Formats: sequence, structure tokens, C-alpha cells
Amino acid sequence: MATRAALWDYRDEFGDAFGRTYFRRFGPGVASSVGLGTYLGAPTDAIDDASRRTVRIALETGINHVDTAVNYRCGRSERVVGEAVRRATVDRDAVMVATKGGFLPFDGEQPDDPARYVRERFVDAGLVDPDDLAGGHCIAPEYLEWSLDRSLDRLGLDTIDCYYVHNPEAQLAERSRAAVYDELEAAFETLERRRIAGDIGRYGAATWRAFRVPEGDEGYLSLSEVLARAEAAGKAVGPDDDHGFEAIQLPFNVRMADAFTLANQRPVDDPEGPPVSTLEFAHDAGLSVITSASIGQGELATEGAIPDRIDARLSGETAAQRALNFARSAPAVTTALVGTNDPTHLRENVAAGTFDPLGASAFDAVFE
Ligand SMILES: NC(=O)c1ccc[n+]([C@@H]2O[C@H](COP(=O)([O-])OP(=O)(O)OC[C@H]3O[C@@H](n4cnc5c(N)ncnc54)[C@H](OP(=O)(O)O)[C@@H]3O)[C@@H](O)[C@H]2O)c1
Repeated sequence: MATRAALWDYRDEFGDAFGRTYFRRFGPGVASSVGLGTYLGAPTDAIDDASRRTVRIALETGINHVDTAVNYRCGRSERVVGEAVRRATVDRDAVMVATKGGFLPFDGEQPDDPARYVRERFVDAGLVDPDDLAGGHCIAPEYLEWSLDRSLDRLGLDTIDCYYVHNPEAQLAERSRAAVYDELEAAFETLERRRIAGDIGRYGAATWRAFRVPEGDEGYLSLSEVLARAEAAGKAVGPDDDHGFEAIQLPFNVRMADAFTLANQRPVDDPEGPPVSTLEFAHDAGLSVITSASIGQGELATEGAIPDRIDARLSGETAAQRALNFARSAPAVTTALVGTNDPTHLRENVAAGTFDPLGASAFDAVFE
């Protein structure tokens, strides 16, 4: 489990090589503001080898925040992350390992008939009630328990440092927004119990649309309502009024900056007040924000892809570094995740952290 002492030791070992605010408060200590994602890549042995190597280099060169999910690369991603974390020369307790549950995972390869696989493996086996499904997605407590156990097993770790409910907005395809909030509260009660048991350090919601679309959008979820449900879960489970909902994940990059530009959340201390952006809400509520798709799933790594006016203000030698530094500069952002299975890209991405991010007013000025 990531500990305060080990996280700070990691910062002391690597911090001097990086720019201002490279390490930022996360969980019990600090984590690198460039993080490694493990979503993309085919479910093959060759990509396993490449990913294992990349994760290990990342951990040994200044990235101590790694993100995965039970379904990534048909479940291979979690195995690879766990192996790399256990084999790396850095202390496991110096690494924030994050994973997610929500999408029903395959087991190592894409089945020929995914619908049949889901029916036989999950529904017929009694792991999932078909009424709780939204496509291949489920966040019912019993299923989430199974998924979390599966993640611990595949990672080969005793504790997951940050466990996300994965894309809860997927449930909106099958039920009302009120019903999804109820589902989330039940899921959070489960996660509160697992937090007290020491299986997870904290939890959050990893989203694609929920927190960055307008209030009226069919994929929208209110962050204040989600947080209120976590508070209720914390109270219901005890032993005190505390809760472990500490992080949100959402896509954020030069082309998808809605979490900063769109006022779509009701303020944490004034539910009737004028809306604020998701990043402002997160800042006021003390939530860590983790960005996904930070370089637009590779598109922003090409010279010319970042609009010139913005590009000129960003620091970094390459387009990928400048794109990453845009995400790292946004207010309330703890870590900008970037996925890669290529050691050369990995080193380039780590080096983005040697440049200082924009300050708050310089970041605001990008949007003027
Ligand atoms: N809803 C969710 O919860 C959600 C959704 C999406 C992502 N995520 C998380 O966020 C992480 C990051 O997002 P992402 O992986 O989708 O997108 P991303 O990090 O924006 O982009 C990854 C892509 O960029 C390429 N790349 C990386 N570094 C590069 C460089 N220096 N130069 C050129 N190309 C480069 C990678 O290919 P190479 O392998 O060839 O380098 C890969 O194809 C994911 O891995 C995942 O952990 C979460």
C-alpha cells in the first residue's frame, strides 16, 4: 500500500530532476503529475512485454502513479502493472496504483461472441443480475465486490491505492439519473467497507462524459450529488462520518478542455448558486483530478496539432510534452495520465515534467 513515508522518499529521490510542482498531493503523500495509463494496446503477449517494460522504466525514472482497469486489454493490463510494480527497483509503497471496476472484463483475449461470453460467464454464473446491466457494464455491489477481488488478484497486490467506479454514466442508458445516484450510493457503501478492510486506500469516479458535458446532457452527472452520495455512504458504514471519495478522472486536453471552460456543476457550498466548472468544484471540494486522454489519444503528439496561439505559451521540446504540460497546468489537476507502450515515448513523456507548468493566470490567459 502506498504510504506517506515511501511516497515522500520517492519524491526526495527523484524530485530534483523535475520542474516546479512536479510532485503533487495525492492520497497519503505525493504523486508525480505525469502518470502512466495502460488502456491502449492489443491483448497480445508482445504488448504485454512492451507494457511491462514501459511501466517498469516509468517507475524507475520518476513516475509513481500508474492507472489501469479490470477490463483494459482484456484483463492483461492489470497483470502487467502488478508484475512491473512488484519487480521494479522502487518500493511498492512509493507507488500510487489505481484501477477501476464497472465494465465486465474478458479473460486475456477478446471472445468470438462477447454477448454470449457475458451471458455465460457473468449472468448464468450468478455474478450479475441482468436487471443491473447496461450493455457490458454493471456497478451493483455484489458484482463490484467480485470485480475488486479480481483486480487485487490480477495485480497481485494487497491494496489498491485508488479504486474508481468506471464510467458510471454508462448506467444512464438503462435507468434514470436518480436511479444511477442510488446505484452509486450502494457502490460507495461497498467501497467504504473495503476501504475500512484495507483493500483500497480511497476511491473515486473515472468518467468519460459525466462531468464535462452540460447539465441537460443525457450523459451528465452532478458532482455535488455524487459527492453527497459518498458522504451518505461514509456515514452509513461508519465508524465515523469520514468517507474515502477523493478523486475524479476525466478526459482533459487542449481540444477537450470542457472541465475548465464549462460551468456545469453546482457549487459545493451553495447548491442553488450559479454553476462552476468541474475543475473549480473539485478544487473547492478538495478532490484530486486525474486527466485521461491528456494527449488526445496520440493526436496531439503531432507538430501543428495544438493551435499555434496555445502552443506558443506551453513549455516542452516536443508536441507531446507541450500537450501534456497543458493538462498538467490546469487548476486542480493532480496528475495528467498518458498511455504508452513505447519506451522512447515514455522517456519523452517523463521529460515533460522537467518543464514548469503554466501558473494559474498564464493558464487563464490561454482562454482569453
Ligand atoms: N473513462 C476512463 O476512465 C478513461 C478513458 C480513457 C483513458 N483513461 C486512462 O487515461 C490514460 C491515458 O489516456 P489514453 O491512453 O486513452 O490516451 P493518451 O494518453 O492521450 O494517448 C495515448 C496514445 O498516445 C501515444 N503516445 C504516447 N506518448 C506519445 C509520444 N510521446 N509521442 C507520440 N505518441 C505518443 C500512445 O501510443 P504509443 O504506445 O505508440 O506511445 C497511445 O496511442 C489511459 O491509458 C487510461 O489509463 C481512462
